Amino acid sequence: MKPIKSVLILLFISSFTPLFAQEREFSDLLQNIDAREKVSLNGLWDIIIDPLENGYYNHRLQPMDNGYFKNAKMQSPSDLIEYNFDTSDQIMVPGDWNTQMEKLYYYEGTVWYKKDFNYTAKTNELVYLYFEAVNYEAIVYLNGERIGTHTGGYTPFQFEVTDKLKEGDNFVVVKVDNKRKRENVPTVNQDWWNYGGITRSVHLISTPKTHISDYSIQLAKGSTNIQGWVTVENGSDGDNVEISIPELRKNVKSVVKNGKASFSIKAKPTLWEPKNPKLYEVTIKTGTDEITDTIGFRTVSTQGSKILLNGKEIFLKGISIHEEAPFKTGRVTSKEECRILLQWAKELGCNYIRLAHYPHSETMVREAEKMGFMIWSEIPVYWTILFDNKDTYANAKNQLTEMISRDKNRAAILMWSVANETPEGEARLDFLTNLANEARKLDNTRLITAALDTQSEGEGGKMIEDPLGKAVDVIGINHYCGWYVDKPQKCSSVKWASAYDKPMIMSEVGGGALYGLHGSKNERWTEEYQAEVYRTNIEMMRNIEFLSGLSPWILMDFRSSRRPLKRIQEDFNRKGLISEQGMKKQAFYILRDYYLKENN
Ligand code: GCU
Repeated sequence: MKPIKSVLILLFISSFTPLFAQEREFSDLLQNIDAREKVSLNGLWDIIIDPLENGYYNHRLQPMDNGYFKNAKMQSPSDLIEYNFDTSDQIMVPGDWNTQMEKLYYYEGTVWYKKDFNYTAKTNELVYLYFEAVNYEAIVYLNGERIGTHTGGYTPFQFEVTDKLKEGDNFVVVKVDNKRKRENVPTVNQDWWNYGGITRSVHLISTPKTHISDYSIQLAKGSTNIQGWVTVENGSDGDNVEISIPELRKNVKSVVKNGKASFSIKAKPTLWEPKNPKLYEVTIKTGTDEITDTIGFRTVSTQGSKILLNGKEIFLKGISIHEEAPFKTGRVTSKEECRILLQWAKELGCNYIRLAHYPHSETMVREAEKMGFMIWSEIPVYWTILFDNKDTYANAKNQLTEMISRDKNRAAILMWSVANETPEGEARLDFLTNLANEARKLDNTRLITAALDTQSEGEGGKMIEDPLGKAVDVIGINHYCGWYVDKPQKCSSVKWASAYDKPMIMSEVGGGALYGLHGSKNERWTEEYQAEVYRTNIEMMRNIEFLSGLSPWILMDFRSSRRPLKRIQEDFNRKGLISEQGMKKQAFYILRDYYLKENN
């Protein structure tokens, strides 16, 4: 084989190297970007829709050096440039493209985003380009130069770009691709709309050269001591780090060694709990850098089939939520939309929410924490992903790491979920057991869970014996009695048994209804039918001794391309207790009454 040929083949293969094998190692995710000085790049971005990835590959399917990321402009009338961002469509960031443009409603593929901005880096400053989320694959270019990539639609990523910035005018280009692929996480089939785009905010974050990049501050497992660590970027051994919690009159100093300073503080904080979601201002200082966060302190553990919050048994009265915006639909893009969803959960009498099936925005998590909601946070290891594919595992592990990295200081998050409704099998068991152990390595203060739909028919009714039950601390069960199996009237008498002395959460239960459609309780899609499903399933759950909570499916109707039924679904999963236009269905009140009257 001629040498030149082998180089070309190598180039070809390297272009397919999974995108999360970073060309440029992005530094640890900056913690608590809300508290950082930053410039927003939100707003209108120019876009080019590129189904054939013509802006990336040449006609030989080889990556080009002069693709659309160069944002080239004609220099002379005879120049041939067959794209121009400045005359192309525009779209809002943050936001999905599907609900912003009729022609992109079903679109899955590449869209190029371009944003001009004016910025001049100051001396002794580092600048990070930070994306809160891009679905699904992102290749990022600054001033025409490739700076990195990211895979996964629901977790943040950043690039330190200080030396890539120009004085004044700069432009960033992002190749976004939400094509579904078998090896992806999630894989090709999911029961939610594959909203594409730069779906969450984009920032230019400024820090001093030597700065606090990351920290973990929580109650030590099984004690009331507050302990943690702080990582200092560009710090030197011996540098001082100061941690202060004024309200607790605590101020401690620690010293940096190998970029990290650890500490432990004897304290008796008021513990965070739903009825009193107490948060403390915590300030960290080192050199010229200072950052303040609001942090709650609590412990969570299990005892047999009980979940203990701060050592006391707690029952999780919950609801599942998708990141679908109320009223406008599409991806949630604002704090107001988060608050509307959370306010509805409050009205329902909930003290707990399951954020499905992927990490929701940091804003949603922080707002929920302030409102006293305990949280189940999950990565989209959903249905039949490729459990024997090592790249798929690396991808899932990366999303897990980013989820835990971003939210590890949120007291409200009690559980990390590593999967939803995955089929039993050896490869799956290894895959998920490894993920669960990875999660424990990253964070040993929370519970690990997964939502199963593998319950079997036993003598005494439903039997929970999935081997994955061994690897988790809390077992989530998805079961649709009265909807996918059996008639609603049958559910009250269904019994449950478990091979595990562990807490069970009914992570999904429920049925569909079109708001405003009425009829008998045996007529599908009527509110009466859905209400009956709730009535009888609540009966069933009352009899499950080892039940420590539930998160019925789901708070609000949400878009899914698996739901085409005309005049009823219209591309929406109708299992919401509230329609996407905010109309409460009868079942909303059934569940509310159960929560308000019981388990208080
Ligand atoms: C499953 C799944 C959900 C889905 C729901 C449904 O249990 O976990 O993602 O939307 O069932 O069928 O409505």
